[in-house]
Amino acid sequence: MDKPEHHIFVCASFRSGGDSKGACSKKGSGDFMPYIENEILDRGMNAQITSTGCMKACDYGPVMVVYPGGQWYGKVENEDAIDEILDAVEDGGVAGDHLIS
Ligand code: FES
Repeated sequence: MDKPEHHIFVCASFRSGGDSKGACSKKGSGDFMPYIENEILDRGMNAQITSTGCMKACDYGPVMVVYPGGQWYGKVENEDAIDEILDAVEDGGVAGDHLIS
C-alpha cells in the first residue's frame, strides 16, 4: 500500500461519549471536509484527510494539522483559509497567517 505524501487532520470535536459539540464542530469544521477532499482531487495532491477528536486547541478552532510537516493551523474558518493552507502544502511551505504551532 502506498502511503499519502501529506495527511491533513481536521478537528471534528469528537469527545468521549460521542459528543461532537466542541468549538471546531460548532464553527463548521465538518462542512469543510468535502471542500478539502475536492481541492485535493482538483489539485492532484497525494494527500489524505481525516476528521479527528478534539485536538485540545479549542480556542483556536477550527483546527487543522498537516503531516509530515507537523504544522498546526487555527481559525480555519472559510475556503480562503483552506486554500492558503493547501497552497502551502503544495509548495512545501507554511501558511503563516493561520499557523498556531
Ligand atoms: S474542538 Fe477542535 S480543538 Fe477542541
